[in-house]
Amino acid sequence: MKNLINLQPYNSFGFNVIAKHFVAINDLRELDQLLQTPEFKQEKHLILSGGNNILFTSDFFDGLVIYMNNKGIETVYEDGNEVVVRAQAGEDWPAFVRKMVEKGLHGVENLAHIPGKVGAAPVQNIGAYGMELKDSFMQCQAMEISTGKLRIFTNEACQFGYRESVFKHQLKGKYIIISVDFILSKKAELKLDYGNIKAYLAEHQMERPTLQQLHDAICAIRDAKLPDVKQIGNAGSFFKNPVVSLEQFNDLQKRYPDIPHYPDTEGKVKIPAGWLIEQAGWKGWHNEHVGVYEKQALVLIHSGGGKGEDIVCLSKQIQQSVEERFGIQIVPEVHFV
Ligand code: EPU
Repeated sequence: MKNLINLQPYNSFGFNVIAKHFVAINDLRELDQLLQTPEFKQEKHLILSGGNNILFTSDFFDGLVIYMNNKGIETVYEDGNEVVVRAQAGEDWPAFVRKMVEKGLHGVENLAHIPGKVGAAPVQNIGAYGMELKDSFMQCQAMEISTGKLRIFTNEACQFGYRESVFKHQLKGKYIIISVDFILSKKAELKLDYGNIKAYLAEHQMERPTLQQLHDAICAIRDAKLPDVKQIGNAGSFFKNPVVSLEQFNDLQKRYPDIPHYPDTEGKVKIPAGWLIEQAGWKGWHNEHVGVYEKQALVLIHSGGGKGEDIVCLSKQIQQSVEERFGIQIVPEVHFV
């Protein structure tokens, strides 16, 4: 365990935040030992994975940061068509996806190039290009913080929704995800319907791509639209795409005939928050330290020298102007600490 560690390398916004205590966990034995320490028993905890979806709102974290760094990817079951693969929480997500694609396994390819770690992926049910983690998630193993007991969570028990799971609600801060089992297929149809993918493949004369070509296309699409966390501090999409009633959508469509939208559950329509933010005039806005990414308005960026509260302040202003203009409340998908 270390004291007074700067979390700058552990949060993708790149804010300078000092943690009172910090421990990196490499295996279950280390986690068991941690449970016996006074720091663990007395301090508040933060389970940190890749730090790609987190916003530290102050300069000091008054507690214990538990950084999950356990590694390993193994096949636990295989038959003619399906394979169950277990990945430890500390594995890098995009590297895991690359490996599965190289092995010819289908189920996570559209989630290529999403920065983060395996253990955090179920917490917010990561999703992109018409696929969500829940589609290939079989179960995960997690440790209850208060008792040290291990428990298996099935897909159903995780209560997945759009960027949601039980780990963000009833069980928030109560469990540490140790490993995730994925059920992947040796043969499956590729999901090519999402607008961006179709357009990219057509442009590159690849209407019938291989699994590897689809993976690489998605990496290229993301690179073109989203800032690289190694160069510009950000946490991917900052807000969730709001869901409105059909009635409200029809009103909006009268005023804005080109409004992009996706069907949601019955009688509901999902509207891209990036479009709303752009319409409200924020795309490319920036001050000395923070701003709105010029190629994708859903991404808030930190260009250096700023603080978490600068992003909090900017996000509130954006929420307010979207609400004033469209009567729609957008809510962050990023986790505020
Ligand atoms: N749009 C604009 N202006 C913008 C951004 C987007 O008009 O500045 C419009 C686009 O033209 C398009 C629509 O909004 O018609 C959707 O844009 P895009 O395809 O970029 O996707 P998104 O809805 O903005 C979501 C996810 C992303 C995911 C992409 C691709 C959420 C909150 N975000 O973004 O996830 O990569 O779809 O599937 O659902 C993340 O969660 O961190 C993330 C990056």
